[in-house]
Amino acid sequence: MMSTHDGFPERPMRSFGGGGDASDSVYRNPATNIHPMQHQVSRSTRNKIMGHRAGFRGCTIWFTGYSGAGKSTLAFALEDYLCNRGIPAYVLDGDNIRHGLNKNLGFTQEDREENIRRVAEVARLMADAGLICITSFISPYTKDRDNARRVHEKDGLTFLEIFVDAPLSVCEQRDVKGLYLKARKGLIKDFTGVDSVYEPPLTPDLDVRTADYNIEASVEQLVRLLEEREIVTAHTVDVVKELFVPAAYQAAATQEAASLPALSINTVDLQWVQVLAEGWAAPLAGFMREDVFLQSQHFNSLLNGRAINQSIPIVLAVSTEDKERLKDQQAIALTYNQKPVAILRCPEFYEHRKEERCARTFGTTNDGHPYIKVHVQ
Ligand SMILES: Nc1ncnc2c1ncn2[C@@H]1O[C@H](COP(=O)(O)OP(=O)(O)O)[C@@H](O)[C@H]1O
Ligand SMILES: [Mg+2]
Repeated sequence: MMSTHDGFPERPMRSFGGGGDASDSVYRNPATNIHPMQHQVSRSTRNKIMGHRAGFRGCTIWFTGYSGAGKSTLAFALEDYLCNRGIPAYVLDGDNIRHGLNKNLGFTQEDREENIRRVAEVARLMADAGLICITSFISPYTKDRDNARRVHEKDGLTFLEIFVDAPLSVCEQRDVKGLYLKARKGLIKDFTGVDSVYEPPLTPDLDVRTADYNIEASVEQLVRLLEEREIVTAHTVDVVKELFVPAAYQAAATQEAASLPALSINTVDLQWVQVLAEGWAAPLAGFMREDVFLQSQHFNSLLNGRAINQSIPIVLAVSTEDKERLKDQQAIALTYNQKPVAILRCPEFYEHRKEERCARTFGTTNDGHPYIKVHVQ
């Protein structure tokens, strides 16, 4: 039910924002005379206010696994990853929810069921609102997880069950909160894996083996799954690439730069080198080549498979003299005050259409304008 663009259907689907209907619920509803209301806001409207470019992303990512398997660690890491890329996500975490909404519940089978039922309903509301809801609960019973899935899918919402899969022995060895030790001593009753059962998912949407992969690799697997299911698109999660030479290669790069023909740049050029190096102009990986320059001039965008705003041409202007000297070089060292600051590989020289550039960028070619004066001279 996901689309990568604006095409989520105006919904005929049910969304009451208020819980399951009595007929499909395994739970008895003691309240009568309940008349759920239909929202007037469609999913395509929610798209527009929740980051519509990638379409409706509302869904629930349900983590299940033993205590200590890594559910909270991964849930918060994934939330951080998504939010930092402008994708609204929110974690419902076991211990947090048991402090508030579910503070009247314990760990008997009945209370665990109710715990998960409420979380499933809250997750569904968040997903319906357009958030990526990430839940982090042991949720040991298949029946309860299946119910959580049903509650979502009935409303056309994607539900992804993630098995945070670490062997009990590893979880017990980690014993993050010292709970296994207490459970083994009999100080905690009904502890999953010790004296309470855990039913592993048989067909999870993803099996994350946290004993074999580190946190970063595990998050990576989750992001790939979200891409596959079209909840996020590859470009929304692209990492901004910095162009700085990694520390380990700096000595070699400095040595290489010293062996290359040099091109001395001015302070403004150096500032652009900095902009590029820090990834502010990503996905540019250097000064613009001619095709990219023309895209920027004519469309105010870069068009490598998708349009990315880039109305400012980032080019390095050189004299005809320098061009003649450097045009056959495979690499050039850019220097500032005689110090190498960057290596330019496979340089491409093309005509600097100064007037056209000024006209398109500033809307005038009058060199009374200080920027135009700089460009034209
Ligand atoms: N790949 C991994 N994913 C998540 N946690 C990991 C991973 N590898 C090691 N760990 C460690 O395992 C522990 C998991 O604890 P936690 O996230 O609180 O588990 P849970 O919420 O499932 O009870 C943390 O100390 C975490 O640093
Ligand atoms: Mg946890």
